[in-house]
Amino acid sequence: MHNCQCVLTSLRFRCCFPGPKEINVVAKPLKMFAIAATVSALSCGLAQAQDAAKGEMVFKQCMTCHRIGPDAKNAVGPVLTGIIGRQSGTAAGFAYSPINKAAGENGLVWSNELIMQYLPDPNAFLKKFLTDKGKADLATGSTKMAFKLADEQARKDVIAYLDKFSEKK
Ligand code: HEC
Repeated sequence: MHNCQCVLTSLRFRCCFPGPKEINVVAKPLKMFAIAATVSALSCGLAQAQDAAKGEMVFKQCMTCHRIGPDAKNAVGPVLTGIIGRQSGTAAGFAYSPINKAAGENGLVWSNELIMQYLPDPNAFLKKFLTDKGKADLATGSTKMAFKLADEQARKDVIAYLDKFSEKK
């Protein structure tokens, strides 16, 4: 489970998680905070489930190329089971582009936050990652991940879904 905090905002509970799952939280009436804290465990669980459920819908777009789940296999794209915490470019048996593989060999391990930054423009992300590592010479060619997901909420939700299939809990 994630560490999470909940805050009572006007009529609803909002949860925020560390890192990419951090959500627009505004603490309204301070005196309500104590009440919010008492039910935080429950409401956090709910909010997270909702994100992942929405993320499952978003993931349908990814399923053109990716599979996820205990029996999932590589397809057009690498299997995404356990992607959070996995080194980039290391799904067994998948023929990655050099740039995706090179990023992993130079320290890219997928976290929620990094996938959040990756999805809007995978190629630009990998190039920047390698360049920042002083490996501009490897930041050439393009990734085979020819898909971009710009919408912030959709990215948060799909990552919550990916997280369900990761072992790093
Ligand atoms: C049109 C096909 C396609 C779609 C749609 C697609 N991907 Fe990919 N994705 C790929 C391919 C192919 C790769 C391997 C990239 C490479 O080798 O450069 C990849 C790589 C990845 C990686 C890096 C995997 C690793 O092991 O390093 C992640 C993370 C990822 N995709 C997430 C997603 C998510 C999340 C979605 C949906 C929002 C999505 N992809 C949609 C084809 C796709």
